[in-house]
Amino acid sequence: MDFLKPRYTPMNRRRRIYEGKAKVLYEGPEPGTLIQHFKDDATAFNAKKHEVIDGKGVLNNRISEFLFQHLNDIGVPTHFIRRLNMREQLIREVEIIPLEVVVRNVAAGSLATRLGLEEGTQLPRSIIEFYYKNDALNDPMVSEEHITAFGWATPQEIDDIMALAIRVNDFLSGLFLGVGIRLVDFKMETGRLWEGDLMRIVVADEISPDSCRLWDIKSADKLDKDRFRKDLGGLIEAYTEVAKRLGIMSENEKVQTGGPRLVQ
Ligand code: TMP
Repeated sequence: MDFLKPRYTPMNRRRRIYEGKAKVLYEGPEPGTLIQHFKDDATAFNAKKHEVIDGKGVLNNRISEFLFQHLNDIGVPTHFIRRLNMREQLIREVEIIPLEVVVRNVAAGSLATRLGLEEGTQLPRSIIEFYYKNDALNDPMVSEEHITAFGWATPQEIDDIMALAIRVNDFLSGLFLGVGIRLVDFKMETGRLWEGDLMRIVVADEISPDSCRLWDIKSADKLDKDRFRKDLGGLIEAYTEVAKRLGIMSENEKVQTGGPRLVQ
């Protein structure tokens, strides 16, 4: 009597695999898949600052879908399969490497503070940094020495991660430049994707205005999560502007809030 079964599992009966600050992962419809759900929660400073911003999850789901689909299309492997609805996408289950990979083109944020650089200074070349993903430790910056000594990734994997990071940076820099946006820096995560005995490193998590610094080329207006971190306001308007410039949303469209919500 298989045909009598519902074709999808209602939200509240799905198995929750993991809940982070801005996303939830549920068991997917097939083995090896997961559902990535984008919440409206915004956090900063390791969640010391927290707010729910209506519509942020919907925008990040769309923007991240667009960027990951394009990366897939140019042969940069990612975990992304397809978007399912306003807040959710189907992804491949990967073994997350516990590193935040930050690529910087322009001095800003913690780099500007740490090295006393003026915000907005073009860097001599793109710089890749690694942070150990550990909230209890506040995601400390680590070097390749720490990564290999503690076994978070092998030297070969670090090479693969850096090659991926450079490809993603080149692609995103060009894409955003084409719509009048400067990609100052971004954070990406990677995971091990197993295909039989073969393993490859793929881009995972999300790439959205939550995890990038995006400045308007002409006005230098911030179109990213710094609007929340620095209490500038207008976060939804800024993310909507990014979506419109990328051609994801039409000129007069407004973000639809609501959609499937988490049962808290
Ligand atoms: P930072 O200048 O604060 O180190 O941030 C570098 C980039 O990484 C910036 O684009 C924001 C992003 N980022 C995250 O996505 N998650 C984080 O937890 C932090 C600290 C930064």
